Amino acid sequence: MDTELAGRLGSARILSRGVQQAPTLRQGFGLTLVLAIIGAAGRVVIPITVQQAIDHGFTKAGVRVGFVATLGAIASGAIITGTIAQRAAVLRLGRRSEGALYELRVRVISHIHLLSIADHSEERRGALVSRVTADVETLAEFFSWGGLAWLLDGALMLLVAAVMLSYDWLLAIIAFAVAMPLAWVLRAVQGHLGAAYDKARTCNAELLGSVTEVVTGAETLRAYHAGAVMAQRSKEVAKERGDAFVRAGTIGAFLFPSGEVFGALTVAAVVGVGVARGTAGGLTAGALVGFVFLTYRFLEPIAEFTEVLDQTQTAVAGLRRLLGILDLPVGPPPPANPRALPEGPLSIQISEVTFSYRTRGETDDDEPVLIGVDAIIPAGQQVALVGSTGSGKTTLGRLLARFADPGGGQIRLGGVPLTHVSNDELRQRLVVVAQEPFLFDDTIAANLGFARPGSSLADLQAAVSALDLDEWLATMPDGLQTGVGERGSHLSAGERQLVALIRASVADPDVLILDEATSSVDALTEVRMAHALERLAEGRTTIAIAHRLSTAMRADRILVLEHGRLIEDGPHDKLVPAGGRYAELFAAWVSSTSTET
Ligand SMILES: Nc1ncnc2c1ncn2[C@@H]1O[C@H](COP(=O)(O)OP(=O)(O)OP(=O)(O)O)[C@@H](O)[C@H]1O
Ligand SMILES: [Mg+2]
Repeated sequence: MDTELAGRLGSARILSRGVQQAPTLRQGFGLTLVLAIIGAAGRVVIPITVQQAIDHGFTKAGVRVGFVATLGAIASGAIITGTIAQRAAVLRLGRRSEGALYELRVRVISHIHLLSIADHSEERRGALVSRVTADVETLAEFFSWGGLAWLLDGALMLLVAAVMLSYDWLLAIIAFAVAMPLAWVLRAVQGHLGAAYDKARTCNAELLGSVTEVVTGAETLRAYHAGAVMAQRSKEVAKERGDAFVRAGTIGAFLFPSGEVFGALTVAAVVGVGVARGTAGGLTAGALVGFVFLTYRFLEPIAEFTEVLDQTQTAVAGLRRLLGILDLPVGPPPPANPRALPEGPLSIQISEVTFSYRTRGETDDDEPVLIGVDAIIPAGQQVALVGSTGSGKTTLGRLLARFADPGGGQIRLGGVPLTHVSNDELRQRLVVVAQEPFLFDDTIAANLGFARPGSSLADLQAAVSALDLDEWLATMPDGLQTGVGERGSHLSAGERQLVALIRASVADPDVLILDEATSSVDALTEVRMAHALERLAEGRTTIAIAHRLSTAMRADRILVLEHGRLIEDGPHDKLVPAGGRYAELFAAWVSSTSTET
């Protein structure tokens, strides 16, 4: 019982956290609740009308026709109003929950996006995304039935209980006490019923299996004279199946009348005590009759509550998993007292930065990946970062986005040490386009939209146009509504980066870090990408980790990283004649592209 209580308390905490993460659900919930209560009021009109009619409509002088007629008219009006209010509450809850789930999904997906850049583990990312989809689905189902039941039936029970207490508190408490065990009985019966149906289903499958075996293996069975044995087995399974169905039916037969039985018991208790006490307690005949009606109204929702309990538990478990994903930390802990970044484009100051993956406990290898990297990048400068594979380019990008902190040295953004910038501000002002961008199985629009929740299709279209990618989008079968497939598999590697570039444009950061795809990209996509990057980089401090040296050629400045050290720094026109590592890389790149074409 204790653990059950702890579980309940845990559920309450999860629900409140879920609501925090999806504020849409909270918006206007007060009005929805009021509408639900008005709806519930419509359903207690009849007991109250009966009570009023009996107590005040019949006098010794006869029936007060005018009074009863007025009462009837008011009751009809109240019932109609109640029905309309209830309908409105249902619609509002439906719309809000849909919005809230969308919000929650976007939040979780963008968190997975960050996780995927922080530690690019493809498998974990894929597993997380499919989990999100399934759990959001479960929550949507919950809102269409269980959530609705909690709202409407909860309002009804509360209101009925209030009216009963106002008529006669002692009778009300007796009624609650006698009716409550119904909940436990229903839970128990439903539990057994579920188990019996499971058993029946398993037997069904077994029977089908054994029949198939007999049919497909007929020849073998004949050869071994095993037909009789197999027939016997099928017969046994068939009998088991029959028994299971009978058992499920028998339990089901108990389920439906148990509400009736408890209704009768409760009414008997109420009427018995009421009559025994007589008019001494101030209970009128009308109130007693009204009580009988109210008792049935009070019992109705109990059955539904017990039915939606399982669904509620499943939904809470789904919500717990979603919140669990949000709890996975991205990068180092945020500062306790964050400092605001200056407005406008931001400079980047990298001072004596050293890093090894050992500090993150990910490997025993203590080999430093970055050693004493030092560079000052003024606001708005276009920088290309080049170097052979494994030289530490992606790692430096990760440090700049604070997915990890350097082991030594410091990085400042707009003069503020990264360790003092709040996570939210950093993610808003600095965006990373990853080497293998994260796309999830939905439309291009959905994959763009999570960069800026609340953006309209027109906003997304504008972002496409801003990068001159309308022509590319027109080659997609359904434009922005084209599905990208699992992990973007319907798109080419270059197209996935195009989507990531548009997404960065939607996010509109002040600093852009682009990790170019290493995989080969067709010539047309490459031209589009280069142009889009140029447009996107305008007015932003940009660091392009360049695998295609055409990107480096266009940059204001090139940083060359080799074995974790910054060995060259300057524009293309200076570095090529200098005859260093960049000149080497460039010569190799020129000869490789000229042999390709
Ligand atoms: N998560 C990690 N855990 C441990 N070591 C890592 C991790 N990521 C990268 N490394 C190692 O750090 C070094 C630098 O890797 P990094 O990915 O930064 O290189 P890169 O310059 O981006 O290479 P490429 O051009 O292939 O993308 C490599 O030796 C790599 O094996
Ligand atoms: Mg890399």
